[in-house]
Amino acid sequence: MLLIFLLPAVANAWWDNGHLLVAEVARQQLTPQQVAHINDILKDFADDYPGTSDLVTAAVWPDMLKCSSQSTICPREVLDNIHIFDSWHYNEKPYNPDGVKLPICSDKWQNNPSALYTMTSAMLSLGSNSRFTHNFFLRWMLHVVGDIHQPLHTVSGFFDNPQLGKLTYGDLGGNRIPVQSPCGTSNLHAYWDSAACTYLINWSPDLDRRELSANATALTSKYPKTSSVFAGRYIEDDLQDCWTAVLAGRAAKPFDVCQEVFLSWTDDTYDSGVAKAYTGITSNSSVPADYAAWAKEFSEQQIVLGGYRLGGLLRLVASRVVLPSPGEKNKKPPPEWTLTAKLFAALSLILVILLACLLNSTLKLRRKLVNLAMTEGLSPRAIDPQA
Ligand SMILES: *[C@@H]1O[C@H](CO)[C@@H](O)[C@H](O)[C@H]1NC(C)=O
Repeated sequence: MLLIFLLPAVANAWWDNGHLLVAEVARQQLTPQQVAHINDILKDFADDYPGTSDLVTAAVWPDMLKCSSQSTICPREVLDNIHIFDSWHYNEKPYNPDGVKLPICSDKWQNNPSALYTMTSAMLSLGSNSRFTHNFFLRWMLHVVGDIHQPLHTVSGFFDNPQLGKLTYGDLGGNRIPVQSPCGTSNLHAYWDSAACTYLINWSPDLDRRELSANATALTSKYPKTSSVFAGRYIEDDLQDCWTAVLAGRAAKPFDVCQEVFLSWTDDTYDSGVAKAYTGITSNSSVPADYAAWAKEFSEQQIVLGGYRLGGLLRLVASRVVLPSPGEKNKKPPPEWTLTAKLFAALSLILVILLACLLNSTLKLRRKLVNLAMTEGLSPRAIDPQA
């Protein structure tokens, strides 16, 4: 119970920069048509959220919802101040190396909603035909897939030791471990949000997309899909069964099938990063140099891996038909012909035909009279002055 009261204090995951990079890596995996399809879904919120309504920038939108006052990380005039979604950003799998007596049953750690629940629900909802749902949950996907690649977003650490102190009710993913770093982050979680002081730029309406793009390209060249650091971790089409189940509907148990895949992602981050992320750290001290070097390298790998997985996911989303946008959907079809209009049209048509017949026979009669006059040796003018 106590854990639940402590949760709202948890900070953002990757700073905007990390999220934007994950999404940019994903974007670079797609064809222009696939990107256009995703952007078309996201555009519906563009009036309310200018500058965060395309495949890359929408990745920061879920953090924007938390904004309660204007600052460098919340440079918007409108502040949503919504905190009901806060727990959608992380998972709290216990890490308990000191054998602390946990305030929760260790096998019942999974709170709902959690990041795992968010991703699974989002995937299921993408089977619907609502543009709002696609847009809303796509934004969450773009964000949370990034989040769960930040190791301290997949864990709740429990400690009772001289280095980290007494954190027997959980460390809120490192938020309660104060550490000093060269970029001024105040706790271990924030340090990881900055990708070990590597990616510090916040979203702004005039974000330099070329620099972002170049950074993403440099990262993917350094860590291609076939890189040994991803061996046994990155599985190109691991979402295929989930997607098939989503499209097939309830009977195919899409929730179970999809949750298994997303759990494999969160577990992968936890297994590869969590133990190391707490090793060598001492509360209220500086981050050691060798730790910093590893944290930067691991953060970069995780951003790329998150981007690859997100790219695969977006490809599936883009394989669905484009839903018409609200403007197009609300366009009135041409009005039905009323019975009166049909009768009026039919009568008009009959009238036109009758008039044509009348005109025709008048002309015929005139021609006959002219011919008759000529055979009788009269001038046609006697019959028709114009002839
Ligand atoms: C690009 O990467 C460099 C570090 O390599 C960083 O200093 C810079 O802020 C990054 N810019 C963006 C937009 O990602």
